[in-house]
Amino acid sequence: MPLKIAIASDHGGYELKEKIKLHLNKRNIEFSDFGTESINSVNYPDYAHIVCEAINKDGYKLGILVCGTGIGMSIAANKHKGIRAACCSDTYSSRLSRMHNDANVLCLGGRVVGDALANDIVDQFLNNEFEGGRHADRISMYPDTDR
Ligand code: RB5
Repeated sequence: MPLKIAIASDHGGYELKEKIKLHLNKRNIEFSDFGTESINSVNYPDYAHIVCEAINKDGYKLGILVCGTGIGMSIAANKHKGIRAACCSDTYSSRLSRMHNDANVLCLGGRVVGDALANDIVDQFLNNEFEGGRHADRISMYPDTDR
């Protein structure tokens, strides 16, 4: 079954989101883009909310959120039940966020990472799986977890 990926950004992440979409298309990875559609100013929590709802209610497995730093998106996303959002600026963290933390949302800073690095971070996020075991026990200790 193909991965269902939900992607969104605010204005600060719009340009990087568009680059990531090209990268996903090249890799034949299916995604839905939930906006924003331009560099006009919007509020990032609205877009974090849409992607988290797509995961929690509409069967999307993973999300990618891009804002200026990735920080606002990750804070907003992590307020949603069942969401484990990881703000990553390097490939190692991105890989481990899947393997150890079972992160289901990757947050990126469009003003922090360049396009090529961002694409590698995305690849590490999508190419790795949760290892379970002791990591699952730890995740079950998160407050308000859905696991
Ligand atoms: C918008 O200017 C900026 O604050 C936002 O993109 C993000 O970086 C917030 O964390």
